[in-house]
Amino acid sequence: MTNSTFPIVIENQAGLSEMADVLTWLDTQVDQYKDQLASAGAILFRGFPVKTAEDFDVFSAAFAYGDFTYKESLSNAVRINFTPRVFTANEAPPDVEIFLHHEMAQTPLSPEKVFFCCLSAAEKGGATPLCRSDWLYANFKKQHPKWAEQFASLGLKYKIQMPAEADADSGQGRSWASTLSVDTVEEAEERLAALGYSWRWEDDGSLITTTPVMPAVKQLPDGSESFYNQVLAAHLGWKPVGVEQEEPLTFGNGDAIDGEALAELASMANEFVLPLEWQDGDVALVDNHRVMHGRYPFSGSRKRSVVVCLARDV
Ligand SMILES: [Fe+2]
Repeated sequence: MTNSTFPIVIENQAGLSEMADVLTWLDTQVDQYKDQLASAGAILFRGFPVKTAEDFDVFSAAFAYGDFTYKESLSNAVRINFTPRVFTANEAPPDVEIFLHHEMAQTPLSPEKVFFCCLSAAEKGGATPLCRSDWLYANFKKQHPKWAEQFASLGLKYKIQMPAEADADSGQGRSWASTLSVDTVEEAEERLAALGYSWRWEDDGSLITTTPVMPAVKQLPDGSESFYNQVLAAHLGWKPVGVEQEEPLTFGNGDAIDGEALAELASMANEFVLPLEWQDGDVALVDNHRVMHGRYPFSGSRKRSVVVCLARDV
């Protein structure tokens, strides 16, 4: 098996054609790959016979991380479960770009690892851009120390509208009942209070929530820092919230974020992006604390099917 830099690429050079053989081989390699992931940030496994969500389930389970299910997450995206651990990445329409983000960094519950699996690549487009967030933040801090300090010291607050009914056409269309794993308004309010959110109900039955102050920067075990947040996704892709068209993202003290700082971050991130051009059967393991991901738009008659499995360190 060979490898390169970011992401590390592990190819099926032994020509393993049965999942049982893959799992036997993987069992001897997992510890080594977990160690490599800590510094590399992402590993792509290419050419293995991973053809179904079930194959992907057992492939990812071989790493023995803890489960992080869609049901228990506070993800705002509509997703469909294939197995208890494997679900669609995002049901947003093909022409919608999902901008760079750390998975669920806008919530107090986020996974440490994200596995992706391409069951069927798009005819055109549909790559998953990956961005080393630690490299981005180090560069941003060097070039704009005052802006970087603002993010680090003030943190962020996210305002999110959760619809009464699921809306699959939106990247944030998961209903409030599903998002919060509750059935009633009272249970929703109890859950939000426990999580430290504030909220209000809109006339259309939707729920507008504001997170407690969330960190914008995360210290990683090796001493580096990552820009662990949803700033780019919110700035580039999220719509104003509610009838009053409020900003979905502010600093933790409620102050607006300088538009120039956001534009600079967006353009700087482009320098660090590596688009992962999917091939059928690819599995990518991404350290969600170190690496951001997104989804480029796609087109063509071939269905793009990229599924995910989230995991936590145990
Ligand atoms: Fe994501």
